Amino acid sequence: MKIVKAKDYEDMSLKAAKVISAQVIMKPNCVLGLATGSTPIGLYKNLVQWYNEGNLDFGDVTTVNLDEYRGLPKENDQSYYYFMHTNLFDYVNVNPERTNLPDGTNPDAEQECARYEAVIQEAGGIDLQLLGLGHNGHIGFNEPADAFDKETHCVDLTERTIEANKRFFASADEVPKQAYTMGIGTIMKAKKILVVVSGADKADIVKEAFFGPVTPQVPASVLQLHPDVTIVADEAALSKCDLS
Ligand code: F6R
Repeated sequence: MKIVKAKDYEDMSLKAAKVISAQVIMKPNCVLGLATGSTPIGLYKNLVQWYNEGNLDFGDVTTVNLDEYRGLPKENDQSYYYFMHTNLFDYVNVNPERTNLPDGTNPDAEQECARYEAVIQEAGGIDLQLLGLGHNGHIGFNEPADAFDKETHCVDLTERTIEANKRFFASADEVPKQAYTMGIGTIMKAKKILVVVSGADKADIVKEAFFGPVTPQVPASVLQLHPDVTIVADEAALSKCDLS
């Protein structure tokens, strides 16, 4: 595991965007695995800026996102489809036909998960997968569990997550209760993995996930077994790790 220390959120966003940019420059037709959440927003802004300045070309890139809420239509502003469009896809020259997310509106979970695994495989596998880190060590929607889930699957959201998400929706009924997510096995098959982490509130989980034992109770700990992981984290997130 390579740990790249950034000064703060801005610096993390810059360094992580450079890693993605290098991937696109080195392999213009690469498959990028993308994430949503608050952490990657700054890095997506940098990619948009470099595209606008003529320094980055997404014309041949394929993207596959980690996860999507089950049951949310694309136009719902809480869907990950909407997030990706409003933070990246609508502002760069990525071909919309080569952007992929699990289809939250497909009610047939088994069929949707199988379809998504096939999409990733047919694209040739993921060259670089971007990940954020949940406070409990989750990656994608892979929550602490007794075993690592291998492939794309449907998860029941925890009461805590549903409760936390309620404020973003017009009514409690609209809050998704399930999500489709790449499995740990899907993520581990990516050739390279880039993890972005920021903030003192992530310091404990950074230490546990990357310096503690590998266990499905801390899903991100499995990344210690991947041959090519780069973690770009700011000083606050690394404050509990002994990097000397
Ligand atoms: C996003 C995702 C999640 C987030 C994680 C961290 O697609 O799958 O695992 O990466 O919840 O979220 P933030 O960045 O908001 O702290």
